[in-house]
Amino acid sequence: MNEKKRILTGIRPTGKLHLGHYFGAVCNWVKLQNEYHSFFEIADVQGLTDNFSNPEKIRINVREVTIDLLSLGINPEISTIFIQSTIPEIAELTVFYSNLVTMSRLYRNPTVKTEIKQKKELFGNSGESVTYGFVGYPVSQAADITAFEGACVPVGEDQLPLIEQTREIVHKFNSIYGDTLMMPEPVLSNNPRIKGLDGNEKMGKSLGNAIYLSDSKEEIEKKIMGAVTDPNKIKKDDPANPEVCMVYYYHQLLNNQNLETVCTECKQGKRGCVACKKELIQVMMEFLKPIKEKRHYYESHPEEVDQILKDGNKKARAISKQVMEKVKKNMQIDYFEQEQ
Ligand code: TRP
Repeated sequence: MNEKKRILTGIRPTGKLHLGHYFGAVCNWVKLQNEYHSFFEIADVQGLTDNFSNPEKIRINVREVTIDLLSLGINPEISTIFIQSTIPEIAELTVFYSNLVTMSRLYRNPTVKTEIKQKKELFGNSGESVTYGFVGYPVSQAADITAFEGACVPVGEDQLPLIEQTREIVHKFNSIYGDTLMMPEPVLSNNPRIKGLDGNEKMGKSLGNAIYLSDSKEEIEKKIMGAVTDPNKIKKDDPANPEVCMVYYYHQLLNNQNLETVCTECKQGKRGCVACKKELIQVMMEFLKPIKEKRHYYESHPEEVDQILKDGNKKARAISKQVMEKVKKNMQIDYFEQEQ
């Protein structure tokens, strides 16, 4: 057990999880938890960087995301799920690391750069919306990773610049204060980002095209019936090109049993889009059934969810305290520690 490496990854609790989260990241985490000691951080402090005026949104979603993770197969018997804000060492490390990062380096971080651009598009060019906390969140993410000696960080491609920034901080810290922090490696999931039923390259909450694990059958029916299909197919028995059809794209993700048939019938004009969508609804509901059952279980046992989080916080804190001891000693700010 002990020779297993540790992984640490995080998720912002800004909304319920959807299929994009599952296929893009969480299905990977579910597999990895058997090979690594796994720590999943509900990054509420990071979520607050752009939702600081909406604390109830973050509070509600800490629990929703936890329930989603449990329903998708994160097993609390072998993995640790914890809440970022319960670990004060993360905030302390963030302050210490902030000396090791220049402002220009943060502004050059491609992830931050893209997000600032998006904010300016939304709120205008004044820069009013770009806070110190926001520009600095890669520093806080470096603290997330290093506080638990996360050797491996499973992330999507968009997060690579943040891991790179963490590695730079670790390198600088260790070269100034001596070998202290563990150098993390990203573990890139090879799952592509999944597309929306509307044909958008990404499924996302803000794009309004997400299928949530908690969606009702009626919501799923509505979303699938409105999906984008081959625009050249006018009549029910026109042959069509499944490669440009979002319904087929989702059949590929979910319908292992009947995929060949869906594809050939579509190409030969033997399958109308309505029937094809109805089949997808059925397959999707089948896929979501065990997830929804677990979701329902945890929703009706909130005390169990609380206990999982409390246990997780405790386990995570025990590690971050040890790391902090080393950090303070090497930074020579371990006043009076020996006397206690
Ligand atoms: N920034 C990540 C995201 O938006 C979430 C995150 C927070 C994270 N802390 C982390 C990811 C630590 C990896 C490691 O998806």
